[in-house]
Amino acid sequence: MGKLGEGLSRYQKLGFCSFHTPGHKGREEFFDGLDFRSFDLTELPGLDMLHSPSGIIAEAQKRSAEVFGAEETFFLINGGTVGNQAMFLSLEETSDKRVVVERSSHRSVMSALVLSGRKPHYVIPTVHPEFNLPLGLDVGKQRIPWPEISACHVTYPSYYGTGFELNQLLDERKRMGCNTPILVDQAHGSHYLGPLFPPSALELGADLVLHSSHKTLSALTQSAMLHVQGDRISRTRLRQSLEILQSSSPSYLLLASLERAGEFALNFGRWASLREEVETLHRKVGRNFRILSQKDAGSYDIHTVDWSKILINTLPLGVPASRCVEYLRESYGIEPELWDEENILFMLGIGNMPEDVRRLTKGLESLAESASGFPRLPGFVELKKRVQYDGNVIPPLPNLILSPREAFFAHKRQISLKESLGHVVGETISPYPPGIPVIVMGELMTPEVLGTLLTAGEGRWQGWDGFRNQTIWVVDQE
Ligand SMILES: Cc1ncc(COP(=O)(O)O)c(C=O)c1O
Repeated sequence: MGKLGEGLSRYQKLGFCSFHTPGHKGREEFFDGLDFRSFDLTELPGLDMLHSPSGIIAEAQKRSAEVFGAEETFFLINGGTVGNQAMFLSLEETSDKRVVVERSSHRSVMSALVLSGRKPHYVIPTVHPEFNLPLGLDVGKQRIPWPEISACHVTYPSYYGTGFELNQLLDERKRMGCNTPILVDQAHGSHYLGPLFPPSALELGADLVLHSSHKTLSALTQSAMLHVQGDRISRTRLRQSLEILQSSSPSYLLLASLERAGEFALNFGRWASLREEVETLHRKVGRNFRILSQKDAGSYDIHTVDWSKILINTLPLGVPASRCVEYLRESYGIEPELWDEENILFMLGIGNMPEDVRRLTKGLESLAESASGFPRLPGFVELKKRVQYDGNVIPPLPNLILSPREAFFAHKRQISLKESLGHVVGETISPYPPGIPVIVMGELMTPEVLGTLLTAGEGRWQGWDGFRNQTIWVVDQE
């Protein structure tokens, strides 16, 4: 075995309890009969073809469409990423190339802008002041230019399991008498089926819906689904887009795991037993941490909360999230999905067992008891004092000079950050949290954004390789 294989084997032996993707958590039952060696095949007689299916793949996709309530379902073998990209490529060309996009969208949405050449009309999510994360969206406040845009792309639910009022967006389109497609990135909510979870975007009436089926369901990593309903999206262009973007050698293991993920998704009993344990967790450690809960629905433009995402803010404990993660990993073998300075996200998947949640509860109880002995980190509790710009934590949006596609292909050079005022920026920079880009490639550097970047703290920047030497990529306009 090479270094990569050895690394994986070493990691597996550590025996961590998974609160991260993939959702299958390595449980045997999801792979029973899925023979890894002999099912790794290519498109052979009788095995159908992903890009023009008429046999077993077509049947499996049809069954998934039934399960998730779509008119048609496309299996994706290049992750949810390719689903967001195909959404944008499938749009009809209009004179105004703008699409509504949330400023906090996943980077695959930003790459979809580059690939499609669409221009973003940003909507700004609401940042929750206690978590410092974009958890809500006030649809009424956004002033969407419905007659001008060619699509409206939104994320429902967020990475953290919060959902905005998607119904309101669909109603607004109707009220405006528009036929604009509504595209929903439901990457983190492919398990939204049955009575235990918020309604799915398909149920609410969205046109195109993306599921990253590997995140919370049992499909293998990199497998996802794109669901479509209605006639606002050209099925032909959608198919052609997927053909352009996806591999010409689709993995049958991924495809077969997608087929099975749909069947396992109907096993609501698995989730019910987890939910009880999550309620116990809230009861036992809810006063030691700030935990996002059903009580948060209705505030800060959050409409729904998915109980299977356990989002914990460690500020009340006075201990940075990274120290808490270290403790939980070392003392309880718990591996979370992600953390930032003050929040930890534990993500449940269909493969988790009630004892996993009990272990997490125990770990958190013990953490709360031990926390007083941890060294204090100067400045940590001061995080509560967030910089505010007119009621928001992100600076006003800079002017868009070039589309992300134009900026991506433009000639660029790296200059000193201090000299970047008035330059068109050639990279997208997000402070994390809250993960909303302060500047997107193609935008003009403003004094507010420059001020934010010049005073930026260590280690909370996504997509900024010049942080250390205080440089930035700008478009060469000479
Ligand atoms: C909101 C959102 N959309 C899309 C994606 C892309 O999905 P995938 O990782 O399956 O390519 C992610 C990945 O984290 C995501 O968080």
